[in-house]
Amino acid sequence: MTPARVKIIFNDDGSDTYTLGEKTVDLDNILTTVSDVEGALRSKGYETARVPLRRREDLERFTKEIRDPEEVIFNLCEGAFNRSSLEMHVAALLELHGARFTGSGPLTLGLALDKGLTKDILSRRGVPTPGYAVMTEASGKTGEIEFPLIVKPLREDASIGIDSGAVVESPSELKERVEHIISTYAQPAIVEEYVDGREFNIAVMGNGKSRRALPPSEILFVDFPEGKPKICCYEAKWVEESPFYRKTVPSCPAEIPEKLKGELQAVALKAYGMMGCRDYARVDMRLGKDGKAKVLEVNPNPDISSDAGFARAAKAAGLDYPDLIAAIVDAAVSRYTPQAGTVSART
Ligand SMILES: Nc1ncnc2c1ncn2[C@@H]1O[C@H](COP(=O)(O)OP(=O)(O)O)[C@@H](O)[C@H]1O
Ligand SMILES: [Mg+2]
Repeated sequence: MTPARVKIIFNDDGSDTYTLGEKTVDLDNILTTVSDVEGALRSKGYETARVPLRRREDLERFTKEIRDPEEVIFNLCEGAFNRSSLEMHVAALLELHGARFTGSGPLTLGLALDKGLTKDILSRRGVPTPGYAVMTEASGKTGEIEFPLIVKPLREDASIGIDSGAVVESPSELKERVEHIISTYAQPAIVEEYVDGREFNIAVMGNGKSRRALPPSEILFVDFPEGKPKICCYEAKWVEESPFYRKTVPSCPAEIPEKLKGELQAVALKAYGMMGCRDYARVDMRLGKDGKAKVLEVNPNPDISSDAGFARAAKAAGLDYPDLIAAIVDAAVSRYTPQAGTVSART
């Protein structure tokens, strides 16, 4: 049954910018995703409404808006009040009020924001991921892992803190880089074995038995500057004047043998399940020297605007954009419809 109305909630933090040195860079605008999702839902016959979350003083109005049990909430909040750490709190608020909402719950969203905790879970549960250590001080120990290593902030996203200097070859470079991360981003660093192989994103949709992985997308490094590590660094994603910009090109469906496709999809499904993802998520991986996939991170709240990788993967699977958005709503709604013999109606 089509729900009467879908409310699209999002954190409207004003200008969606991030300061890099002396430059202010525009991150992709949440409002684009909101209007894409809105258009898709309307084309499928849903009535929609937009519910922005702006300031803390707004919270009472926002809370009233999410309380109607007849409605479904499309949750596009990536945080609140300019803080990504509050992303999970929005989902918790929805849950407390008994709202039916799309996407992952608060625990999954919170865990995925911490790359160390994510890898603790993945490695403990048999999902291959590069060797790693979390360092709270530059003189800390990395244990058994081998150089070259990549150093990242523990709790950032969008390649914040990742540039060509992130890949280190020696203990002295490592110490310097960890110091840089701790002092610049006021958080621990995660140090990982640098995996020098091909990079893939795998979109996963659905719940329980209807979970499925979409065709893998490969990130091609085209004309990358000589001698620089092939990584999706911050400049490659956001800084138009940079020599790295637009040199990471997605190709979907990836040109890979069926066997590798099957392996990437199986690893993605396992990572999705182990992290407790719901409805949709994207898993990023690279191939190690052994030719095996290693999970870099799990994104339970990935970009689902019409020109993002998720929509491209859906298209490759035969789902056009409105179908994709409607399938996310359907997946969410069926979680709230109790079915005989299932352990939990929610996951
Ligand atoms: N262990 C690793 N080995 C090789 N490249 C890596 C590794 N970790 C991250 N990268 C590179 O850095 C990019 C961003 O890292 P990721 O962990 O996905 O963080 P973010 O949340 O900022 O996207 C990846 O897309 C990849 O190109
Ligand atoms: Mg990533």
